[in-house]
Amino acid sequence: MSEKYDLVVIGGGPAGYVGSIRAAQLGLKVALVESRITLGGTCLNVGCIPSKALLQSSHHYEMAAKEFKNHGIEFTGLNLNLKSMLARKDKAVDDLTKGIKFLIKKNKIDRIAGLGEIVEPGKVSVSQEKGGKKELLRTENIMIATGSKVASLPGVEIDEKRIISSTGALSLSKVPQEMVVIGAGVIGLELGTVWRRLGANITVVEFLDVVLPGMDTEVSKTMQRTLKKQGLNFKMNTKVTSAKTSTSKVTLSLEPRDGGESEVIKADVVLVAIGRVPLTDKLGLDNLNIALDDRGFILVDEDYQTNVPGIYAVGDVIGGPMLAHKAEEEAVVCSEILAGQTGHIDYDTIPGIVYTHPEVAAAGKTEEQLKNSGTDYNVGKFPFSANSRARCNDDADGFVKILSAKSDDRILGCHIIGPQAGDLIQEVVNVMEFCGSAEDIARICHGHPGLPEAVKEAALATGGRAIHI
Ligand code: FAD
Ligand code: NAI
Repeated sequence: MSEKYDLVVIGGGPAGYVGSIRAAQLGLKVALVESRITLGGTCLNVGCIPSKALLQSSHHYEMAAKEFKNHGIEFTGLNLNLKSMLARKDKAVDDLTKGIKFLIKKNKIDRIAGLGEIVEPGKVSVSQEKGGKKELLRTENIMIATGSKVASLPGVEIDEKRIISSTGALSLSKVPQEMVVIGAGVIGLELGTVWRRLGANITVVEFLDVVLPGMDTEVSKTMQRTLKKQGLNFKMNTKVTSAKTSTSKVTLSLEPRDGGESEVIKADVVLVAIGRVPLTDKLGLDNLNIALDDRGFILVDEDYQTNVPGIYAVGDVIGGPMLAHKAEEEAVVCSEILAGQTGHIDYDTIPGIVYTHPEVAAAGKTEEQLKNSGTDYNVGKFPFSANSRARCNDDADGFVKILSAKSDDRILGCHIIGPQAGDLIQEVVNVMEFCGSAEDIARICHGHPGLPEAVKEAALATGGRAIHI
């Protein structure tokens, strides 16, 4: 039996590897158990990183095909080399996973390869996929960071060939002619966009009447309009009831959500992107009576401890926004608490970003949430069409919207659709973290010409004094 650890972390994604590093920095003896060959979890291997690599490449392709001529750049013979595009994406993933391997070694964390199972509090057994001897790790504390997996849709079985999850959509060997995306959430819109840009005809089937549910409605509506203009087709308020796969096609049966005539559509590839569910398979939770909520997420207290002392959980597996940066922050706080410190996360200021073009970014409350809670608020909106940098870049769709409290001008929410929205939101998040007001942003000198000036103008607009509109 091995030496006793202070902490065994199960799962090497953004939560697990970051939590391990922070715990090791604070002097704890740490083992990190991961069943994948590489570290980095869903985010790095089959999520954030490969999807953003493809979004960037496909954006360049579309720019070259449609936009460069506006800048006076003309050429002939544009070709798509999908194999190279996928290889570049794979290299980005490969380089970054190697980086994490290095960090784990540098921090003297024991990386244990295999599937972790909690045998009892203080004991984790690690087994290999092909059987063989199990390794038993003894530890003071356990951090579960096993993440999430794709949610399945009854009647539409994922085979990762014709009916694929996001993982399959990151590696299609040829551009499908007809692709159906089930779910107009973040994955559906990001990966649907990638394959549309590369030439696929995309139909998005969504159960609700809005895309990106949960986002500020004005932003969701603008997003759907913009994506429609770009060529994405939407079937809203619609559910898929079954899928039949033949050698060359998938036949999907659709029904209006609230009843009515059903219809049949055919596709070369179907992407199922209807959400993700917690991954707790084979962790031994049943034997330990670890409490879960009704959707299977692990329940934790404010210190991220489960109902079993010494067993903690962080990241996607405990629910909340399924975001890499949220998972990382939770793991850092949890490790600091285990090392005797204190910490907390402000869940109100976690930014959510959709990496389409234009990007969407949000933090804090939506206008609907403020209305429903009876909060008195001011709205300041500024369109990118009035921002000089966006006009120079020929990239001026969208707006910045800031919501501030009527009582004291404190910023309550910010919603951006437009160029580099994901970077622009961070200024507002920082101000929100310091309980700042719209006036604070409005009074800060912003470099000219710059996209952040649109944020300043939206802040000015909450008081009805935007300059450039
Ligand atoms: P995970 O990253 O899922 O890591 C869990 C790890 O635990 C996995 O490596 C798994 O193999 C391992 N594991 C599970 N069970 C065991 C076990 N019993 N023993 C050993 N190991 C185990 N988020 C963003 O913030 N920005 C984005 O741009 C973004 N893009 C995304 C794109 C896609 C296509 C997808 C699918 C997700 C995206 N996400 C994005 C979400 C992000 O990937 C997750 O929120 C994040 O990975 C959660 O981190 P985690 O550490 O909790 O879990
Ligand atoms: P999601 O929750 O964002 O969207 C799922 C969509 O599917 C919703 O619009 C929902 O109404 C719809 N839906 C559900 N059941 C349906 C059905 N039966 N038929 C038709 N539509 C249905 O989930 P998604 O897109 O799968 O992403 C999973 C998670 O991954 C997200 O929660 C997100 O946080 C994370 N992610 C984050 C990214 C980012 O930060 N840029 C990128 C990709 C994923």
